[in-house]
Amino acid sequence: MKEKELVIPMLELSYDELNDSQKHLVEKAREACRRSYAPYSKFHVGAAIALDNGETVTGSNQENAAYPSGTCAERTAAYYAHSTYPEARFKAIAIAAIGTDGREVAEPVSPCGACRQALLEYETLSRNNVEVILVGSQKIYVLPSVRSTLPLAFCEF
Ligand code: THU
Repeated sequence: MKEKELVIPMLELSYDELNDSQKHLVEKAREACRRSYAPYSKFHVGAAIALDNGETVTGSNQENAAYPSGTCAERTAAYYAHSTYPEARFKAIAIAAIGTDGREVAEPVSPCGACRQALLEYETLSRNNVEVILVGSQKIYVLPSVRSTLPLAFCEF
């Protein structure tokens, strides 16, 4: 028997420590939160994806009265990005959220398991690491890749 440990590399930064393109993506994710449709959870999530063609694509969570039919912000953005620009590679994604109190969450939210799996596919297609920026009002986490958010991921190709 071997005991193993998986380590998730990440940086904790303040907003001021981000570079200009990271700040831009964070602001796009923050704006996207305001377009969220979340009448049931009242938890508003926004995602912004930077593509290698220079475009930034955003998405927000879209809920539905039939609850499981709703989609998270990350998949809304990712599916829109890949269906609009199928040739473009993903470079980075920022995720921001406004909590039920109407304020930006202090602690960053991180993508659910299904979104990590969906994003991993686009990272694999992109053949480069997709930086993941998780935004909170008190701190920002930067992870070097989607893969680092999903240890032991299922990936067929
Ligand atoms: N949600 C996202 O959009 N992204 C996440 O990373 C976590 C959760 C949404 C789903 C649902 O509309 C609401 O947040 C509450 O779970």
